[in-house]
Amino acid sequence: MMTFDIVTIFPAMIEQPLAAGILGRAIERGTLDVKVRDLRDFTTDRHRVVDDVPYGGGPGMVLKPDPIFRALDAIGAERGTPLTVIMTSPQGRRFTQAEAERLSGLPHIVLLCGRYEGFDERVRERVTEELSIGDYVLTGGELAALVVLDAVARFVPGVVGDEQSVAQDSFSRGLLDHPHYTRPATIRSASLSGERDLAVPDVLMSGNHAEIRRWRKREALSRTLERRPDLLDDASLDDEETQILRELKGARHGRD
Ligand code: ADE
Repeated sequence: MMTFDIVTIFPAMIEQPLAAGILGRAIERGTLDVKVRDLRDFTTDRHRVVDDVPYGGGPGMVLKPDPIFRALDAIGAERGTPLTVIMTSPQGRRFTQAEAERLSGLPHIVLLCGRYEGFDERVRERVTEELSIGDYVLTGGELAALVVLDAVARFVPGVVGDEQSVAQDSFSRGLLDHPHYTRPATIRSASLSGERDLAVPDVLMSGNHAEIRRWRKREALSRTLERRPDLLDDASLDDEETQILRELKGARHGRD
């Protein structure tokens, strides 16, 4: 069981996605405990103001520090002082699958969703990590917090039905996934280049499990080599994969 507290000014942006799918079921079963905290509940003025103009002038608004401090104090009083407080922002360290796995070992995570021009800098006093989900700017941290929560939760035992599938995720080993097929065995498709039958690779219907395993390894490796060669620097490959990769690189070399 893992506990999350998410502090946001748009609770619906978090609550509605969390009600559906695998995370929704995990929350229902109690495998995940997720509480969404409306930052406005921690204001003290009549208008529940969460932002203010920046000192020094300039465009945009800044999230006030005091409601955030009160929200963190309330979470601490309820659950014990949180050891991990994550702020989502484009200035953060890049969030990766390895980070998701590391965070899944923690008992309790608080996620602070940013808005406007950002947080008052003094909020960072209470933040233990700042994470970015990629090099682009979102309108707010809610989608980023959901991405972090989703990727971390997959590693929590009992959330995804088949734990093997999480551990064996090719991405967890630093590779892109191999292609997948299901019935029908052939399907007619019309595209700009004309009409034709699309078949499933024979090997997948051969019943030869050793060959299927090897085909999948080769496909995952050749995809990674084509699309994300940078991943291969840190990938953990077994002997067979190292051999296949050598062959693929040799074949590419011959082609160039
Ligand atoms: N908030 C706005 N943009 C973001 C990003 N790329 N990652 C995390 N939080 C954000």
